Amino acid sequence: MVTAPTPKTTPQPTVKIGQTKLLINNEWVESVSGKRFETINPATGEVICDVAEADAPDVDKAVVAARTAFTSGDWPKMSATQRGELLYKLADLIEANKEEIARLETLDNGKPYSDSFNTDLSLVIGCYRYYAGWADKIQGKTIPINGPYFCYTRHEPVGVVGQIIPWNFPLLMQAWKLGPALAAGNTVVMKTAEQTPLSALRIGELILEAGFPPGVVNLLSGYGPTAGAAISHHMDIDKVAFTGSTEVGHLIMEAAAKSNLKRVTLELGGKSPNIVFADADMDKTIEGAHFALFFNQGQCCCAGSRLFVEEKCYDEFVDKCVKRAQNRTVGDPFDANTEQGPQVDLEQFNKVMSYIESGQQEGAQMLCGGGRVGDRGYFIEPTVFVDVQDQMKIAQEEIFGPVMSIIKFKDIDEAIKRANDTMYGLAAAVWTQDITKAHAIANNVRAGTVWVNCYDVFDAAAPFGGFKQSGIGRELGEYGLQQYTEVKTVTVKL
Ligand code: NAI
Ligand code: MG
Repeated sequence: MVTAPTPKTTPQPTVKIGQTKLLINNEWVESVSGKRFETINPATGEVICDVAEADAPDVDKAVVAARTAFTSGDWPKMSATQRGELLYKLADLIEANKEEIARLETLDNGKPYSDSFNTDLSLVIGCYRYYAGWADKIQGKTIPINGPYFCYTRHEPVGVVGQIIPWNFPLLMQAWKLGPALAAGNTVVMKTAEQTPLSALRIGELILEAGFPPGVVNLLSGYGPTAGAAISHHMDIDKVAFTGSTEVGHLIMEAAAKSNLKRVTLELGGKSPNIVFADADMDKTIEGAHFALFFNQGQCCCAGSRLFVEEKCYDEFVDKCVKRAQNRTVGDPFDANTEQGPQVDLEQFNKVMSYIESGQQEGAQMLCGGGRVGDRGYFIEPTVFVDVQDQMKIAQEEIFGPVMSIIKFKDIDEAIKRANDTMYGLAAAVWTQDITKAHAIANNVRAGTVWVNCYDVFDAAAPFGGFKQSGIGRELGEYGLQQYTEVKTVTVKL
């Protein structure tokens, strides 16, 4: 076992903390209960600050504001072009404050600053601009029905939308949800993740600066079983969009069924197969497989967490994979050389460590990592298991941490069968120079996204979402936009 270096502390840049209250009806307010909760810097375990804690009464207030904004006031009067202009303005403001916002994201979440700045913030800005462009291109059809009638469809906003987001990409998940909802003319009550409330609130400040009318975007910091459940059960919310665990996805859908049949879109967990054939470009594939699993501290719903490697190249591949994992730099997320920061909180740290223990107990062989890095914060050594068998917990359940599981396979039919042997279906990838094999995997693996000779390629224009228990509906692209509209059929007697 190799021990990664203790994270050294570089001088922390000053990070500006903005608003910590709830944003309701364009005003910053304390919660009805007056309660606040602390948010922690996962690199040190220290408290950053506390924020107002929303619960059901705050959700009620936010829904009233969002409903009023949806039915009267400036928002429904605005032209589609004007909605797009507001979104462009928001994107511009985020870009103008990109460094500062990326620092806040890193402070609250722990992801390396270079990732926050280069990846998260760039995708966030791109997402708002992409949907800004859609605002005035949402249009129905004219339909040639029988008889003397003129029939056409309108694509109208769904109404008041509840959005519940996770902590692994706080700003990006906010953008994926706000972008299409606002482009289509909905109003929003968003609950952010309790681990990472800060960056979303900073975007709230910029939403005000951009000039969105009161009640269009309401932002609530708070916990799932309280504020989150109040959203999913609410009788005056027309749709709920959720990203998070499959377990909570079930609860959201149940709440929607038991309340008002609000529309539900879910983006849930995954156990994505990443399939390597011996004919692949080995060096690129090693780097790709490393990135697929370890990016974002392994905290990706689409992480390539079942790494299937063809028998013919297994030994060489494993060797190089382990070396790459051992070279991964773990430490202070504000250090420019850092590839991996801490897990988001103690709960996630403990969860990942318990999977590492379970892998060892079930007989998988751990070739590197397995321990904590340093003695403060929630850092975990990049860990690689080999000889992983399909029925092991580490091959079935979402670990959401820097733990790679390598699985050996013989031929393509076996790879497809085993790749599909999971309740999940979020993403998959294949590495090969053989176009026939690549398409066989792309067509036969049941997953919402398949990457060929690449991984984690995201673009606001390309839809993303899950088959099976990885979710319902799609985000991003035109498909994602459709989830925020209702189709109305209008028939006129001529
Ligand atoms: P979670 O599903 O509990 O939390 C995600 C969001 O849902 C948060 O905003 C949370 O406050 C909210 N929530 C929790 N319980 C709720 C409820 N009863 N009603 C309404 N909203 C509720 O996920 P958690 O606990 O943060 O992480 C647990 C595991 O979930 C992770 O280890 C990982 O495996 C998975 N996960 C998957 C994500 C993805 O991107 N698909 C993101 C975060 C977690
Ligand atoms: Mg939870």
